[in-house]
Amino acid sequence: SGYRIACVPGDGIGVDVVAEARKVLDAAVAAHGSSLEWTDFDWSCERYARTGTMMPEDGIEQLSGFDAIFLGAVGFPGVPDHVSLWGLLIPVRRAFAQYVNLRPVRLLPGTSTVLAGRTAEELEMVIVRENSEGEYSTIGGRHDRGRPGEFAVQEAVFTRAGVERIIRYAFDLARTRTGRVCSATKSNGIIHTMPFWDEIFAEVAADYPDIASEQCHIDALAARMVERPDRLDVVVGSNLFGDILSDLAAAVTGGLGMAPSGNINPPGEYPSMFEAVHGSAPDIAGQGIANPVAQILAGAMMLEHLGETAAAAAVDAAVETVLAEGVVATPDLGGKATTTELGDAIAAAVRG
Ligand code: NAI
Ligand code: MG
Repeated sequence: SGYRIACVPGDGIGVDVVAEARKVLDAAVAAHGSSLEWTDFDWSCERYARTGTMMPEDGIEQLSGFDAIFLGAVGFPGVPDHVSLWGLLIPVRRAFAQYVNLRPVRLLPGTSTVLAGRTAEELEMVIVRENSEGEYSTIGGRHDRGRPGEFAVQEAVFTRAGVERIIRYAFDLARTRTGRVCSATKSNGIIHTMPFWDEIFAEVAADYPDIASEQCHIDALAARMVERPDRLDVVVGSNLFGDILSDLAAAVTGGLGMAPSGNINPPGEYPSMFEAVHGSAPDIAGQGIANPVAQILAGAMMLEHLGETAAAAAVDAAVETVLAEGVVATPDLGGKATTTELGDAIAAAVRG
């Protein structure tokens, strides 16, 4: 059977890494008797610079019939970053109730961690980031502009339903892993929303007596991720905390070039969206040297989500084989290979 995929390469290195990922994914599904039917969308900050919008007015409607969305990265010099977030990513995440941002973290073979002496097993974890509400809110405003007492107010919105469903997702996920959940909080400083989050966490935890649960203030948790990563497995956090922790987790393992993510609508009523954690990397855009592994692994997550488990495993295995050999490596991995050379090597490994 074939799957209909909406492909949004976006800007900068997003375009390069998506092209490589498609090559690898097509090879993997073909070997397992299936196919991907790609439809391209030029939605990007570059489009915004040209036309004034990231996507057309009926953009969400256009995406709604697809089985999944495959996104590169958006961000273009001269276009403010809040445009890319609020003009495309956040509307898609919210319209399709992609309330889970799943960011698995692992140390891949042939790569190194900045944390001396840590094994791949100790570094294995997954960040479950709340993806639809929280600190990323439009409520608030700027006041007394240009006056001496100028100030800004930003309100965070946490709903009981929103907090409960993300925490339940984390506990369910923990049952398929090592059985441990750590919740990121900051209820000592943030005295309304975070105690609310903690209360719901405790309520949900009571339903999962088989899972070891704990909570940790975000600052201490960041330190723990560096000092005692072996004590973490499933980490659940709000939109902002989860975002920060997942970049940190990626950085302490193989780097941003290796970190995939999924924006998941768990009931599967709407398309989920898969992307690398990294952005459009204007500092290396156009040079053909971006590492395509994060985007390729995001593709493996997409295949897994679609139920193509064997094809997903084949992509993971091909990435591991090529990285372990260490012959074809992009500059961030200490090599001299181009994006295309690494993509070709992984596609060849998939074909076997
Ligand atoms: P970034 O992730 O694009 O780059 C951070 C650093 O990591 C840069 O030095 C970059 O060269 C390096 N890097 C990232 N991906 C790499 C790869 N695949 N291979 C090798 N090196 C890689 O983050 P930055 O610089 O903060 O943001 C750049 C633009 O991307 C901004 O416009 C930002 O808004 C946007 N962005 C978009 C995201 C998305 O589309 N979901 C996520 C994060 C940022
Ligand atoms: Mg981020």
